[in-house]
Amino acid sequence: MFLVQTIYYSEVNASLTAKDIEQILLSSRKNNANKQLSGILAFNGQYFLQALEGLRSEVCETLSVIAKDPRHNAIYITSHREIAERDFSGWDMAYVGQSKFNRERMLRFSGHGDFVPSMLSGASSLALLKSLATHAEDIK
Ligand SMILES: Cc1cc2nc3c(=O)[nH]c(=O)nc-3n(C[C@H](O)[C@H](O)[C@H](O)COP(=O)(O)O)c2cc1C
Repeated sequence: MFLVQTIYYSEVNASLTAKDIEQILLSSRKNNANKQLSGILAFNGQYFLQALEGLRSEVCETLSVIAKDPRHNAIYITSHREIAERDFSGWDMAYVGQSKFNRERMLRFSGHGDFVPSMLSGASSLALLKSLATHAEDIK
């Protein structure tokens, strides 16, 4: 079995709290470490953008769990591909919050100064996540 990487975005459920984010990261890091999954979760207060990478079976199983999570709505996959190597191997699940979604960064990867994930190609979603990863926080 080989490596794949999936990137998706979703819109947050309006009732989400900071405590929910902590809980998501806690269980993501525990589960992903067990399954040798790596990735990054970026959240601007309205949308999640997440990359998940590892063995295809593990990525697909975890994605189907994530898709049913009531803390967000439908997930939209922007990219799914076989990869020769991981882009986020240092993280069970890196996290980047709202403050890093600045206008300059958004203009670099899209036609907007705002974060509109439906307007991002798969390649731009990945490039944006790689750029955000340089600011990943270590929220425990
Ligand atoms: C935006 C978002 C991203 C998530 N990412 C992951 C993830 O990478 N890995 C994971 O195991 N669970 C992730 N979850 C949580 C799962 O939906 C689910 O709650 C969790 O896997 C349950 O595991 P637990 O019973 O061990 O807490 C995510 C949830 C949301 C809302």
